[in-house]
Amino acid sequence: MTTTWKERLLEQMPPDLAREIDVFEGQMELRKQGSLDERVFAESRLRRGVYGQRYDNGKRHDGIETRELEFPSADLVKGPDTRWDAPGMMRVKLPFGGLTVDQLNLLADVAEEYSDGILHITTRQDIQLHYIHIDDTPDLMRRLASVDVTTREACGNSIRNVTACQISGVCHDEAFDVTPYSQAMARFLLGHDDVQDFGRKVKIAFSGCEQHACGLVKMHDVGFLARTVEKDGQLVKGFMVFVGGGLGTVPHQAKVLADFVAEDKILPLTQAISRVFARLGEKQNRNRARLKFLVAKLGIEEFRRLVQEELETLPADERHTAYIDELDSYREEPARQGMILNGEPVPEAFYDWYRTNVYKQRQPGYSVVTVKLPLGDLTSWQTRQLADIAAEYVGDNIRTTVEQNIVLRWAPDKDLPQIYQRLAEIGLADAGANTIVDITSCPGTDTCKLGIASSRGLTAELSRRLVAKRAELPPAIEDLKIKVSGCFNSCGQHHIADIGFFGNSRRSGNHKVPHFQVVLGGEWENNAGSFGLAMGAVPAKLVPDVLETITNAYVSERGADELFQSWVERKGRREMKALLEPYMGLPTIDEQPQMFTDWGDSRIYSIADIGVGECAGEVVSLFSMEIARAESVHFDALIALDEGQYEVAEQKAYRAMLLAARALVRTRFLDVGDDPDNIVSEFKARFYDTELFFDPFAKGKFGRYLLERHDEPPTVVDKDRAHQTVEEAQLFIEATHAAEARINGVITS
Ligand code: HEM
Ligand code: SF4
Repeated sequence: MTTTWKERLLEQMPPDLAREIDVFEGQMELRKQGSLDERVFAESRLRRGVYGQRYDNGKRHDGIETRELEFPSADLVKGPDTRWDAPGMMRVKLPFGGLTVDQLNLLADVAEEYSDGILHITTRQDIQLHYIHIDDTPDLMRRLASVDVTTREACGNSIRNVTACQISGVCHDEAFDVTPYSQAMARFLLGHDDVQDFGRKVKIAFSGCEQHACGLVKMHDVGFLARTVEKDGQLVKGFMVFVGGGLGTVPHQAKVLADFVAEDKILPLTQAISRVFARLGEKQNRNRARLKFLVAKLGIEEFRRLVQEELETLPADERHTAYIDELDSYREEPARQGMILNGEPVPEAFYDWYRTNVYKQRQPGYSVVTVKLPLGDLTSWQTRQLADIAAEYVGDNIRTTVEQNIVLRWAPDKDLPQIYQRLAEIGLADAGANTIVDITSCPGTDTCKLGIASSRGLTAELSRRLVAKRAELPPAIEDLKIKVSGCFNSCGQHHIADIGFFGNSRRSGNHKVPHFQVVLGGEWENNAGSFGLAMGAVPAKLVPDVLETITNAYVSERGADELFQSWVERKGRREMKALLEPYMGLPTIDEQPQMFTDWGDSRIYSIADIGVGECAGEVVSLFSMEIARAESVHFDALIALDEGQYEVAEQKAYRAMLLAARALVRTRFLDVGDDPDNIVSEFKARFYDTELFFDPFAKGKFGRYLLERHDEPPTVVDKDRAHQTVEEAQLFIEATHAAEARINGVITS
């Protein structure tokens, strides 16, 4: 008699997870019968970590419409071995990135049985499986639940994965181990009533120290930074608490909500924050719905007051402090005794790997080994082998990292040469972890529906080139971070890299050219201490040359020990832009056809395909001239921002938006004039209300940047506000380019 997974695993699944999965299966049934609305089902499925994906299935949505592709074709190389007959992605939530040997083995099995046999590590310590059929999702969830893993609230408007430093507990610089706190937070909030009614997602992170990057608390909705204070002669553990940070299209630095919150108060505090966010956060306009907008709107003082008020009325809940009793007994068990390297001969390449991939733990005789994963991927076969290696040397002390790698903690130093050897046998002993060759990338156009350019294709190419000349790379650039996103949403975290790229496109004649915007000087250290500056967009195919130019200039011009960030700042935006200018011209398809394809894809690039516009060549060139003026004023705004002239920067950014809107309006109505009211009302009537300006996915978001700024000029312009308008203006200009190409372009492929 055959049994179902549900029957087989009944005893092994936590009852609440099992119940949840049954509910979802019931909804799937109702959806099939047509008695559950697609939108209701979509919300429910997303809340359980089941996303739609792009998969070149012969009917690829190109950003405007669904196109028939000739597929599979011999030339198609986008996303190695792209499989096309399965519909979705599933995100598996791993609080603090923690994994056990059993969980790794199970993930290897389900990746093989239900997806394309690849586990993809994300920038928030999750694992994604792609090409999953919706019919398989309940069983997949049950099998994950049997090893205490859930996909619940991995997506959707809820509390996302709670992340934490991958070396917490073994780090030399931490105040204390944040692991059990992040675990308690994740457990407490999972499925909690107060986190079900958000307008958008909420991301929480824990960090053990201020100076390093690991936890990235300053770019999170809610961030906890470990601290101890002395009280009555006793050391009390607690956290500095940050709120309202986030990347996305317009990045926000988090604000300090409290300098110190004792360890037993952080769960009620987060519950109170959640309640305030659920009550007052934006619900209608998704683009303003993150916590960062609420904090910015209310101001941190008012937000703090509201949270305090909420805290005072919060019903008592024993779960708020129950975990505190377990904290003392929390410890990781090493699989083996810690022993130092004993001088036995080791392979030559070992030392190279040891230098970059091994971190000596605080506990003598033990180290953390970073397994560097190209593009964050590993196969089911590799995963099983890795689980065997872990079982033998480190036990269940495995974690994923926000740089899309896996770490094995508590590796006895004596065993490092063997571990290296074993990893090398399965192709996972690449050196250079967390250095310039270890590039972060979001999924981009390979599998993400929002992707504009191929972030993975570019990352693969840059890595290939950098690895090939790794031995000769100047030491000054070894530790630079490169991060790539396929679009403005910043899943690849390009804002907090030394050198970041995000995908966009430009029109040249009747075709589009995939581009990447170059973002320089972001800070990874100090918990993502500051964001990089956008310098200009270059064709995707020129990015490797651009990277070389930038790094060469840095190496030759830097002062002794000058950091990349300081160099970018010292050089200033004008000079940095001048470095990029030789690459910024638009190619023509006749002269440089290779520029019209994206990395890893032999097809002519296209994400837009719309009817013939009314304009002739001269009008297009008028647009080009006028948009160039907008870009130049925007550039002045950036300079003013750098110089601390916030009001000037804000005004110029607004002016740049007006000029861009005017450029577009003039393709239809030459005599619009220069009066802001006229420009805005013509823009609104002709391009916003008609939805012609709308981005296929972000809809009217970018258009509203201008309308809102025009209707409600800020009364007080501080640095944050100026920064916001400048960022928005840049996105508005990008959107104007895209809209013009859609509306007026005669895109032929
Ligand atoms: C189906 C694919 C995905 C979609 C549609 C998507 C969508 C988005 C959007 C719209 C944002 C903007 C953030 C906001 O302001 O709300 C965002 C941010 C972000 N996403 Fe994704 N994403 C996808 C996949 C991923 C993946 C695979 C990763 C990890 C590799 C990821 C990690 C992030 C991170 C780290 C941020 C920025 C952090 C933040 O502001 O919270 N996303 N994503
Ligand atoms: S950055 Fe854009 S392309 Fe990349 S995963 Fe996020 S939404 Fe998709």
